[in-house]
Amino acid sequence: MKTYHIPSTDLTVSRIAYGCMKIGGSWGPEPLTQTVKDTAVKAIVTAYEQGITLFDHADIYTHGKSEEAFADVWAVIPRDKIVVQSKCGIRFAGDPYPGAPHRFDFSYEHIVASVEGSLRRLRTDYLDILLLHRPDALVEPEEVARAFDDLAAAGKVRYFGVSNHTAAQMALLRLHIAQLIVVNQVQLSLLHHYLISEGVVANIAGKPSALATATLDYCRAHGILVQAWGPVAGGQVLNPPADAAPHVKATAALVTQMAHEKGTTPEAIALAWLLRHPAGIQPIIGTTKPERIVASCQADEVTLTREEWYALFTAGRGEPLP
Ligand SMILES: NC(=O)c1ccc[n+]([C@@H]2O[C@H](COP(=O)([O-])OP(=O)(O)OC[C@H]3O[C@@H](n4cnc5c(N)ncnc54)[C@H](OP(=O)(O)O)[C@@H]3O)[C@@H](O)[C@H]2O)c1
Repeated sequence: MKTYHIPSTDLTVSRIAYGCMKIGGSWGPEPLTQTVKDTAVKAIVTAYEQGITLFDHADIYTHGKSEEAFADVWAVIPRDKIVVQSKCGIRFAGDPYPGAPHRFDFSYEHIVASVEGSLRRLRTDYLDILLLHRPDALVEPEEVARAFDDLAAAGKVRYFGVSNHTAAQMALLRLHIAQLIVVNQVQLSLLHHYLISEGVVANIAGKPSALATATLDYCRAHGILVQAWGPVAGGQVLNPPADAAPHVKATAALVTQMAHEKGTTPEAIALAWLLRHPAGIQPIIGTTKPERIVASCQADEVTLTREEWYALFTAGRGEPLP
């Protein structure tokens, strides 16, 4: 698989990454079973054999079970052959006491404790990349800087990034943090295209002026790798539900038709739409099915023309371009 070099790092990673959110089984209190662990390792090894070298986690995924299930892979894949990233900063309701609200927490204590938990569950000494999961309204950038400094000095985290952050939020952090922000992971797909489409319709009457505008351009300008979560819109762009909106069904039909014409898979077309964007977007695929992982990785062989890209874009938007 072709690779991206993450600017200002020594990391070279596959263009498509694997998201581990669902490999821990249920989000309920049930403990991990051997069956869930075996299924997880099978998915990860399939992804690795397809050339995927970046694996995405978060401390909260299935309440830690995803990271725990992943650790069995060290019996098969050497640690230094893959890039492991995790995220911190989301706290569920009831943590740490009953009645505590769902919230975001970029405090020094929470960031450091979260990383230590991830390292323990992943059975590794270091994270290659740590991301701040969702913007914390109460962020104190100096405090984040102190946490990042200590984690870097202890050798527990090599590089840092963010997720779901706007350009302005990244700019604010960059004023205070010594380490570079090397990744921004954002929701992006043919059906959730706003980071791209808002730039195209900016300053048009009746269109919302969104903070999202310029986030991709900011990442391009500052050498920040854009990672796309939800890259097939949770499967909707491949297999829309019966009650899906007409433009969702039309987009899925066009994806399937293009796959047929180009002799590839629908997964490959949906992901190639992201790969074709010059920001150098890295889709984080989330399927747990080995056959869908293989079908997704065919995207590496597909290059869409401008005309194909815009036809898909227009279908996904469900309305003509200005
Ligand atoms: N930073 C953030 O805030 C954030 C938020 C969410 C996720 N993420 C990361 O991004 C990764 C991917 O996110 P995602 O899971 O939303 O991405 P996705 O790849 O768009 O969706 C994966 C989901 O779609 C289903 N699916 C795939 N192909 C399908 C098909 N042909 N028909 C029906 N369903 C299909 C999968 O089910 P099967 O498993 O059955 O194939 C899975 O439930 C996550 O694992 C996580 O690492 C980050």
